[in-house]
Amino acid sequence: MSKQIKISAPKGTHDILPTDVHIWQYVEKNIYDICQKFGYNEIRFPVFEQTELFNRGVGDTTDVVQKEMYTFNDKGDRSITLRPEGTASTVRSYLENNLFNTPAPVKLFYIITCYRYERPQAGRYREFRQFGVENFGSSNPLTDAEVISLAMNLLNKLGIEDLTLYINSIGCSSCRKKYNELLKSYLQMHSSELCDLCNDRVGRNPLRVLDCKNPECHDVICDAPTVDTVLCDDCKNHFEVLKQALDSIGVKYTVDNTLVRGLDYYTKTVFEIKSSDLGAQSTVCGGGRYDGLVEQLGGSSTPGIGFSVGLERLIDILTKKNLLPKQNDSVDLFVASIGDNASQAAFKLVNDLRNSGVSAEFDHLERSVKAQLKYADKTNAGYSTVLGDDEISSGVISVKNMNSGEVRDIKIEDLTAENLNF
Ligand code: HAM
Repeated sequence: MSKQIKISAPKGTHDILPTDVHIWQYVEKNIYDICQKFGYNEIRFPVFEQTELFNRGVGDTTDVVQKEMYTFNDKGDRSITLRPEGTASTVRSYLENNLFNTPAPVKLFYIITCYRYERPQAGRYREFRQFGVENFGSSNPLTDAEVISLAMNLLNKLGIEDLTLYINSIGCSSCRKKYNELLKSYLQMHSSELCDLCNDRVGRNPLRVLDCKNPECHDVICDAPTVDTVLCDDCKNHFEVLKQALDSIGVKYTVDNTLVRGLDYYTKTVFEIKSSDLGAQSTVCGGGRYDGLVEQLGGSSTPGIGFSVGLERLIDILTKKNLLPKQNDSVDLFVASIGDNASQAAFKLVNDLRNSGVSAEFDHLERSVKAQLKYADKTNAGYSTVLGDDEISSGVISVKNMNSGEVRDIKIEDLTAENLNF
């Protein structure tokens, strides 16, 4: 019989193995703790949505929508897309479930998988994970500062200090109109130096030309007028208050007038946090204000702001900086056994111990006692014991501390977590 060819995971995806899962749980626990401290509540939403949500929400001239979405027709001939990000879905859910009727601001967070058909490389995957927060109902720049400080707090809490926070304001819809005109006339003057996609975007959404990674467009993009030149007084003031608020809590930042972010929904504040540990894909967190998005998706005018952290990138930084927690997947007590009678008794004892809060394991593979104890050692069990007919009749077992080698006799009925602490 011919051997079947092994099936590998799709390109750009990766498994999180039992040896690494504690790292994810550690990061997730820190996320839960910090969100609780900042008053953000978790929201969970579907992996797939109607394609229209992202076309309208993220914007149909963005790279994400034009090039990267996993879109297909389902068996009912509906166009479905695997979520490339979480903001549009959060807004959809906020509207669909009337969360606008709950006390404002509505502060939500999520930990999700996202899907983008990108060329995989270090730090860039087709399935990746994001932690994100979204805040609805406040147009106060102090809310922008709170959202940014939540991201910085998380990263600092995990021990990452040497990050750079870049901030910018891309203005409200009327500043944007002015900037689009300015940018459009500049780009039209340089149309012969731009790629076809850029020339297509000049007419439809000139801001998106600034996302182009094509080397031939690079020089034109570098010399383009920046948005700060057209900001209205209100947007300027919003940005000033944000900067003062960040100063007041000691969050350092660099103003980058060229930062516009690659998604269409942003207004006013945009920001990114970069790490020099990450190489080409250096952005670990990106976000900003989106005061028009809720309305654009069918709600009433509601300001919003949020960010997402790429969790693979975050864990990459922790790995490079040696900031990972130790794995703790070993059991408290391994109960080895000799003979059929004792193996049944070991099974029951392990069951009783687990019910009383002690993590315990028995031999599943009918191994010799020597092999069982070797297994206990290899899997870093804290303590071990051997159960035989004598132990069953006396009700007393010898428990060995696998680290120190110390052995103590303990009555089986007295086996508790406290007694396994020597
Ligand atoms: P984004 O900049 O597209 O923003 O993604 C946020 C973060 O997700 C990036 O900074 C990066 O760390 C990570 N990321 C993005 N693409 C990939 C990929 N292919 N592989 C690995 N990691 C990736 C958003 O998604 C917005 N929804 C953020 C936001 C929330 N804005 C307001 N609220």
